[in-house]
Amino acid sequence: MSTTSLSVIVKRICPQAADILSFELVPAGAEALPACTPGSHIDVALADGIVRQYSLCNGPGEDGGYIIAVKREPVSRGGSAAMHERVREGDVLSISLPRNHFPIDWSAQSHLLLAGGIGITPLLSMARHLQAAGAGFHLHYFARSDQHTAFRELLASPDLRSKVSLHHGLSADEVKTCMQGLLASPAPMQHLYFCGPAAFMGLAADLAQPVWPAGSVHMEYFSAPVSDAPQGSFEVHMKRSGGNCIVPEGKSIVEALAEKGIMIETSCEQGVCGTCLVNVCGGEPDHRDFYLSDQEKRDGDKILPCVSRSRSPVLILDV
Ligand code: FES
Repeated sequence: MSTTSLSVIVKRICPQAADILSFELVPAGAEALPACTPGSHIDVALADGIVRQYSLCNGPGEDGGYIIAVKREPVSRGGSAAMHERVREGDVLSISLPRNHFPIDWSAQSHLLLAGGIGITPLLSMARHLQAAGAGFHLHYFARSDQHTAFRELLASPDLRSKVSLHHGLSADEVKTCMQGLLASPAPMQHLYFCGPAAFMGLAADLAQPVWPAGSVHMEYFSAPVSDAPQGSFEVHMKRSGGNCIVPEGKSIVEALAEKGIMIETSCEQGVCGTCLVNVCGGEPDHRDFYLSDQEKRDGDKILPCVSRSRSPVLILDV
């Protein structure tokens, strides 16, 4: 959780689709909430030390509160179940300031938005802002059925409906065929944005990578794909505080450093939010995150130590 937190009251909880609730969060005090931009997310602190990231769905002018939507996951790690079962209207929650790792590139001439399931949340906000700005865009939203389609009324509004295509109940092969068609030939100065489950993200990234120009593809993971990459041990040198520590198999750099009294701020602990970012002063990181760009990974001077490891026997970190 970010060190700066805000207190908010849950003003309204609304069912948005099967297993999806939206939560309107308003300031608990007299001060207005900081402004947010489309693509932003907040950390929400829940009971038992659980912190989860949720994208803001706010449209232009909706600055009185933050709106998030949460899907109850069948195999919840605790966050979505707590939001659905324990959080009630009137409750006070602690949240972080909004952060945006998935901003709209306003220099683009047009924007292609692809949402899978609950990945609609940041893309809905983007679509509404792009529409208000008169920018060229189209949103493709893949969902299991009409009942599983969140924010149906908004998407069907006169402003948006001609810019939105809903794809319901497609098989994996049908999704692939559809995405192949959508991603085959980017228009000049067109940018691509996608957010959805891990398989959806992998498919979109694989299809886009060979044909979309570098810098035109933007993605937001909301959970990391399961990794079975080897977890061998290595050594970390702590440049600022001095000393070394061994990071054994099965332990993260964050956990190993904490045992030496070096606390690194974390949030998602899955390599998707960027909170734990530290600088690398030597050695070769083994990047396992879904946050740094390909170029940043090649540069090798930053690491997300909640998930990433080391290719070299020793890694020197600026901690
Ligand atoms: Fe989120 Fe490390 S805590 S990337």
